[in-house]
Amino acid sequence: MTTPTRTEGLEPALLPADGSARPSEPARAEPAEGRAPLANRALAQRVRAVPPSGIRRFFDILATMDDVISLGVGEPDFDTPPPIVEAGIASLRAGRTHYTSNYGTLELRRALAAHLERRYGVSYDPERELLITVGASEAVDLALRATCDPGDEVILHEPSYVAYAPAVVFAGGTVRHVATRLEDDFALDPAAVEAAITPRTKALFLGYPCNPTGAVLPDTVQDELARIAERHDLLVYSDEIYDRLAYGSYRHRAMSALPGMRDRTILMGGFSKAYAMTGWRVGYLAAPAAILEGIVKVHQYGIMSAPTTAQDAALVALIEAEPDVERMLAEYDRRRRLLVAGLNDLGLTTFEPRGAFYAFPRISSTGMDSEMFATRLLEEERVAVVPGGAFGPSGEGHVRACYATGYEQLEEALVRIGRFVARHRADAVPATG
Ligand SMILES: Cc1ncc(COP(=O)(O)O)c(C=O)c1O
Repeated sequence: MTTPTRTEGLEPALLPADGSARPSEPARAEPAEGRAPLANRALAQRVRAVPPSGIRRFFDILATMDDVISLGVGEPDFDTPPPIVEAGIASLRAGRTHYTSNYGTLELRRALAAHLERRYGVSYDPERELLITVGASEAVDLALRATCDPGDEVILHEPSYVAYAPAVVFAGGTVRHVATRLEDDFALDPAAVEAAITPRTKALFLGYPCNPTGAVLPDTVQDELARIAERHDLLVYSDEIYDRLAYGSYRHRAMSALPGMRDRTILMGGFSKAYAMTGWRVGYLAAPAAILEGIVKVHQYGIMSAPTTAQDAALVALIEAEPDVERMLAEYDRRRRLLVAGLNDLGLTTFEPRGAFYAFPRISSTGMDSEMFATRLLEEERVAVVPGGAFGPSGEGHVRACYATGYEQLEEALVRIGRFVARHRADAVPATG
């Protein structure tokens, strides 16, 4: 065993200038004259640079109110289907209360490989190319931390999921946002992506089907983005957690299944949405072996392994829960049609979302910005939505309404929103949408 150095474990700012403190005699240096207290300096610059999530405030207010219809939180109102729950209980009863391999159980990785192959025609080696994570959240964080160097630029569409840009910044990278627009149904414009590429661009981040807009990438756009990635030799991070929540004629295609994309794509997904398993915290990441090997290092030192109970439950989700997914999907679709038609009838222009479980109405005709609209709607009518501006500047003028809530509640929410809009539109300066 090596002898600890004198300064090991001590915050450099607390050490006397001659470095004479020993671990057994902690230095008690007074804060240097004129220097701010340590608590004000402790946070790393990259952490300070990231504002707190714009949606948290709403959930804090919401928690203090009764009789609120929440279209705010992006999670299924369904409980986890019974066969999955039973699998979790059986796992615990069987004494499966220990760590798994860092990669996750081989059974789950094999089932996941078969699932991805069957659905999207893309094949991954379950032993070296799949990692089970603590939700897609961990997958996003790992992908960025393992691949971003300081100064690397990541192109990211906005409005997009609130965790993406912070994950890039925490990893030391820089975000270059590309705006998407209602006029394009919030699909990414390949020309705008190409225009954002600089010599420092390392990667393109895609989160489609999209939270908060419900937008999907039309096949032609996805093909063009793949060609751009190849032409400019970019890595592609693709968060496909909403892959199963696709409506109408839209069929999701995995980005890594497109020609030439498997070797440059980090595919991320999870069980939270399609299987109503948000609380279990289980997701996955798929990448070529050489990339996954590095990603596993970040995971093994930070997390060790995803929860064993959740992995065993996720295995049953893949094998047995297809009828449950279909049942929930059909119900989301029914609610989607109700909400989108209802919002449009109220004069809040809402394009047809083809994926996820969000509608993204334009609310600018009320004369309010998205924050004011959401705050007043909550206070006056007890309906919670999320201000679109929280997802990026192009989300301003919109709010996000999640329809993973009961049909009757959505009907009642529409009545309340209608009352609210009629009241405020009377005082509003005329505007479109
Ligand atoms: C686009 C997107 N990615 C990832 C996540 C996180 O999912 P998980 O529960 O698997 O961590 C969410 C959750 O809302 C999401 O909307």
